[in-house]
Amino acid sequence: MTPYVICHMLGSVDGRIKQNIWGLKDHHKYFEEPASKIKADAWLVGRTTMQEFSSKKNYKTEAVRANIPKEDFVAEQPVKKYAVVIDPSGKCYWDTNMVSTEHVIEVLSEKVSSRYLHHLRSKNVSYIFGGKDELNLDLVLRKLYKLFNIKTVRIDGGGHVNGSFLKAGLIDEFSLVLAPLADGTIGAPTVFEAEEGYGRRKATHFTLKSVKRIYNDYLWLRYLVVKNKKAQR
Ligand SMILES: NC(=O)c1ccc[n+]([C@@H]2O[C@H](COP(=O)([O-])OP(=O)(O)OC[C@H]3O[C@@H](n4cnc5c(N)ncnc54)[C@H](OP(=O)(O)O)[C@@H]3O)[C@@H](O)[C@H]2O)c1
Repeated sequence: MTPYVICHMLGSVDGRIKQNIWGLKDHHKYFEEPASKIKADAWLVGRTTMQEFSSKKNYKTEAVRANIPKEDFVAEQPVKKYAVVIDPSGKCYWDTNMVSTEHVIEVLSEKVSSRYLHHLRSKNVSYIFGGKDELNLDLVLRKLYKLFNIKTVRIDGGGHVNGSFLKAGLIDEFSLVLAPLADGTIGAPTVFEAEEGYGRRKATHFTLKSVKRIYNDYLWLRYLVVKNKKAQR
């Protein structure tokens, strides 16, 4: 079993997601308020996005005598809502095992060191392995369901993590808050960063679930993913 996957993003009309030049006052609300209306057991982000929330301290991890086995670790803790990060090389460090009201789950590859696992255990941060070198995102979702009972997960970006779930065909729903502005920055991350150039991959199609005008000039678009679509329109 895998969780139902809803990807939620705030994007400019040209699909950019980094808000450096958007000049929005109170910019978090445009993402957070609609997000809070989507019922989910967990939110999941890429390593780059999570580093905005993880520790800013310069942790020097201690050498550990024994190797810590590369086995999933479910921390004992009372919370049943989760903040999940795709962090294959173990680059996020933690002062606590919570982000806001959610318990942190690190998704790792087997490349990570025992020192890093020791750090996570010392902070009681949960972790799961998604593959030896490369992550198998379907396996990651199955583990989130089985080990943490996560039935719905909201993927909150950035573009690379969204793109890899899109490419793997694992997104069920897409929720886009369309900001009334054009960014135009060449090379800035976009809503979905799946792969460079045109290969064999086909675009993912959606059907419209709902559309709502919010904050005067914003649109909140909710789409269902058309699964196994072969023919192009
Ligand atoms: N507007 C919005 O709604 C919104 C929402 C979220 C974020 N953002 C913005 O988006 C920007 C970051 O986006 P981003 O696309 O650069 O980064 P991202 O998706 O947050 O993180 C990318 C990193 O996550 C890891 N990763 C993701 N998918 C993986 C996979 N399938 N396998 C292995 N590793 C994977 C890799 O980490 P390693 O490099 O460590 O291997 C990768 O470099 C930030 O500026 C953030 O503020 C905007």
